Amino acid sequence: MAMDPPPAPGARTSVPTERLVGHDGVERAATALLRGELVAVPTETVYGLAARAFDPEAVQAIFAAKGRPADNPLIVHVDGGVEGVVEAWSTTAQALAKAFWPGPLTLVCPRHPSVPDVVSAGRPTVAVRCPDHPIMRALIRRVGPLAAPSANRSGRPSPTTAEHVLHDLDGRIAGVLDGGPCAEGLESTVVDVTSTPPMVLRPGTITIAQLRDVIGSIDVHPSVLAPVDDVDARAPGMRYRHYSPDAEVVLLEGPESGELARRAAERAGTHAVVVGGGASVRTTVFPDGGALRRALYAELRRLDQLGIARIVFGGIPGEELALLNRIRKAAG
Ligand code: TXA
Ligand code: MG
Repeated sequence: MAMDPPPAPGARTSVPTERLVGHDGVERAATALLRGELVAVPTETVYGLAARAFDPEAVQAIFAAKGRPADNPLIVHVDGGVEGVVEAWSTTAQALAKAFWPGPLTLVCPRHPSVPDVVSAGRPTVAVRCPDHPIMRALIRRVGPLAAPSANRSGRPSPTTAEHVLHDLDGRIAGVLDGGPCAEGLESTVVDVTSTPPMVLRPGTITIAQLRDVIGSIDVHPSVLAPVDDVDARAPGMRYRHYSPDAEVVLLEGPESGELARRAAERAGTHAVVVGGGASVRTTVFPDGGALRRALYAELRRLDQLGIARIVFGGIPGEELALLNRIRKAAG
């Protein structure tokens, strides 16, 4: 049996993680966060692993618990207001926030000096987002802005249920607030608004067309559209292995790819995940791209539990930019 790597310094190893629910759960989570502990919290996209943004030691512990590379910055979650987090709030940032907050849009802005270096991995910018989830927002109102990456072990698919969080982080964090499955299932769209025009660094459910409708012109980082070997410093998160289950992932593209994926699943140990067509053996069928997007991470984790060696994706509509981006990254 494969051994887990030894825990990073600072990570808790022995105390089981508490599952927290309801109003009492939010209170207990707030107490833990104020003590400098880590709590996983549901958002509308995926579960986040939260620490108080203004507590540098707690934020440092996020990196240890996840095994996250120290140079990959975190998103600060706010309840709408960005005072004391963002140094300069441009009219572009304001227009985007007005259109899409609360919601799955993260804005990279100039960092306020009171935000600890560790949050932004030493960068002069800070990523901010106002999530559309009552539990997360209640917690922010109670304890202030929360730094939170996705609550998975680094490199793994993001968690969309409390069970996924516990699978990856049980014993390493104080608690998980259980809010049931996340509605969106995929991480937020990340837009750098410090440049003119702004640049999409990570695609998400808010599409480039929706962003253009609000601010006119917008650039798209090359890593959004296709894998790039040499990722520049603007998109630090794109440098690393991401969203990967234990199984090998293969993405087939083009008009025949759904049928080819189904056929590939005739091989032992292989399972197909396709959009469109009827149910078949060793193939999971989703009615459309949106349904697969919402279920992607849960499906990757489910197939790992079944011990599937190889997952072949096919039939995904080309306009599903965010979904294709995540599967390409998972395929490595
Ligand atoms: O939906 C989401 O965004 C979820 C929920 C929990 O809010 N969070 C999430 O966080 O996906 P994480 O850490 O897994 O991804 C954050 C992405 C990474 O690609 C990171 O490199 C990028 O945002 N990022 C954060 N701060 C940045 C900055 N200052 N400049 C450029 N990219 C930044
Ligand atoms: Mg992540």
